[in-house]
Amino acid sequence: MNQVYEKVVRCYESIKDRLPFTPRVALVLGSGLGDYADTIEVKGEISYSDIKDFPVSTVPGHEGKFIFGFVKDVPVVCMKGRVHYYEGYPITDVVLPARLMKMMGAQILFLTNASGGINPSFSAGSFMLIKDHISCFAPNPLIGANIEEFGCRFPDMSSVYDKELQEIIRKTAREQNIPLGEGIYVQLTGPSFESPAEIKMLRSLGADAVGMSTVVEAIAANHMGMRICGISCVANLAAGMTDNPLTHEEVQEASKKAAPLFRQLITGSIAAFDN
Ligand code: HPA
Repeated sequence: MNQVYEKVVRCYESIKDRLPFTPRVALVLGSGLGDYADTIEVKGEISYSDIKDFPVSTVPGHEGKFIFGFVKDVPVVCMKGRVHYYEGYPITDVVLPARLMKMMGAQILFLTNASGGINPSFSAGSFMLIKDHISCFAPNPLIGANIEEFGCRFPDMSSVYDKELQEIIRKTAREQNIPLGEGIYVQLTGPSFESPAEIKMLRSLGADAVGMSTVVEAIAANHMGMRICGISCVANLAAGMTDNPLTHEEVQEASKKAAPLFRQLITGSIAAFDN
């Protein structure tokens, strides 16, 4: 059997008896959103460190566990903390959690993250519905022997972000009076923030927000036929757009500040996925 696939199966086998239910939505919580789980009806938790061979994050502020609970009536598995490519994991480990959540039964992958705003209409605290993405320098997680159990060798990528889910998120934002921008998210590897010249390049490529996650997970989930949606919380304007140097603390602080509204938007959207 394929070693990458075997590892996901091993993780699944080691926790399958502890799953409180079959989740419908898999929610990946970005920087600053870690306490989202406090707002849901929790039915169970599994620490990443309890899962055999599971990659454990080393980033401060990225505590690692799966939290199972209901958002209104929708069964959800939340990832509190994700692993990033810049931590040194092989790219197949970075997408292992997304594959594992599909194996748990999740049909929808809801990706969230903190980003740097490239589109000048954004400011710290803006939310951006991800309409499409650009992968920049991060390896494709599907490189290697194709895992037939997940999907085909050459997956179509022409509509990765589900149009119906996008419309539900837009409608939720409108109803709740939450300003929601839209745009293209670009993933670079990190961990250094971008240079001003790189931000100019990314803008000319058509990117509206930049970060260090999400795209590789979306590629793996799209391969498996999951329905995908994503919202980015702009934590800062990207390098060179203001006079301020960027720090991880600033990103965390801005994400934390935006978190209550972000939580509201996510909860309202997931509840509406039920219809
Ligand atoms: N660049 C990359 N990733 C980020 C940024 C940024 O400016 N802000 C938050 N995550």
